[in-house]
Amino acid sequence: MKKSRLAIFASGSGSNAEAIIKYFGNHPQIEVALLLSNNAQAYALERAKKYNVPSKTFTKTQFQNGEVNQWLKELNVTHVVLAGFLWLVPEIVLTTFPHRIINIHPSLLPKFGGKGMHGHKIHEAVVAAQETETGITMHEVNEHYDEGKILAQVKCAVLPTDDAAMLGERVLKLEHEYYPKVIEAWVTSSADRPR
Ligand code: GRF
Repeated sequence: MKKSRLAIFASGSGSNAEAIIKYFGNHPQIEVALLLSNNAQAYALERAKKYNVPSKTFTKTQFQNGEVNQWLKELNVTHVVLAGFLWLVPEIVLTTFPHRIINIHPSLLPKFGGKGMHGHKIHEAVVAAQETETGITMHEVNEHYDEGKILAQVKCAVLPTDDAAMLGERVLKLEHEYYPKVIEAWVTSSADRPR
């Protein structure tokens, strides 16, 4: 049987991208076909290189005019994984990959999500709101920020002594542990789902 092929989109550090690349390094059903970035300086590109995963950068025009979508088709990509990717996904990609684009957000959506809610801002808001728990949400991607169908959530405690940085570290560890596993279950089960 042919393997499912992932394209990872990352705009920044790419620690999740690396965790995913490592997890599927020797997987019987799933492989990482390429890593794409909108940011030529993204450390995610270095990480891809380290594991011999092909990578490419692109502009907003190339994303919106269908060029990036064409690359995905040419490389027989079956599923798209966003990992710290900051742009909305254009219609042309959404319609090519229905129910086959996943993202991760470092809070328990719908709390602390939406446009502008990324990076340390999320954890600062969680601490300021005196939440007792936070966590990660893995969800399908649609035309709005952080609003696609929720596929899985994993929680962790917010301690009274936490600052945003401490909390961010705890949440990022959860992401590395769970995102690859949730991707695996999602890809495997999507084989029986209609497009
Ligand atoms: C992660 O917190 C992820 O949940 C969010 O962006 C961050 C990316 O971190 N969408 P990294 O680039 O994977 O290190």
